[in-house]
Amino acid sequence: MNGHDELQELGRASGAHGEVVLRRRGAVTELVVDGVFAMDDVDTSTERALATEALARCTGDRLRVLVGGLGLGWTAATALADPRVAAVDVAELQAPLVGWARRGLLPALPLDDPRLALHVTDVAEALVAAPGRYDAVLLDVDNGPGFLVHGSNARLYAAAGLATALAALRPGGVLAIWSSDPVPELAARLRALPHTAGVEHLVLPVERDRRRFDYAVVLARTAQPSSRGR
Ligand SMILES: C[S@@+](CC[C@H](N)C(=O)[O-])C[C@H]1O[C@@H](n2cnc3c(N)ncnc32)[C@H](O)[C@@H]1O
Repeated sequence: MNGHDELQELGRASGAHGEVVLRRRGAVTELVVDGVFAMDDVDTSTERALATEALARCTGDRLRVLVGGLGLGWTAATALADPRVAAVDVAELQAPLVGWARRGLLPALPLDDPRLALHVTDVAEALVAAPGRYDAVLLDVDNGPGFLVHGSNARLYAAAGLATALAALRPGGVLAIWSSDPVPELAARLRALPHTAGVEHLVLPVERDRRRFDYAVVLARTAQPSSRGR
């Protein structure tokens, strides 16, 4: 990408959750949500790591995964690339983005994969509605708990919201949360909750425009019935 690449708007829509814009700059696709730059696909290694790191900690097969939100579809596509995965539910707040995805405007997303289900909903509601349903819950709905795209998402990272996300998991399931900054305080909040069997805070360095960014993924496993402590 360079400063002279032409900007092509693929979609723009406004709704109850603000404006969402999908655009292409040269070979790069960008997503802007409610005026906040949400992501591009220059380096999707950490969006993909959100799925691979969580699934590496899941045992068994016929795994069920919840991804919130859709973005450019990299986390969902990476989960679907794991042959042990039987179902990927994606909860996305922005109906227009789901519409564009269904029209094939998100090249990463394998639309013809029957294991993929796209839902227009707040992931907070999807979590409440699904106690014990998932092997992995992958949350990337903000630039991180410290840089929210929507103020209402703060509840997801509070103790009660985290407890609801953990409750959506089967025993031994994994909650994974993406952040654009290290968030040791989020890991500490998860460790303080009952029923977590292991909490890890991974720092994932990415170089962009010759600058280093330390993104992070926080992982928490729910206890197996026989597991004691952490
Ligand atoms: C940074 S993008 C996700 C990127 C995605 N991991 C990927 O690989 O492309 C964040 C997405 O979360 C959505 N979102 C924000 N808050 C949400 C919520 N409460 N429930 C569901 N989706 C939400 C945004 O509309 C946006 O599509």
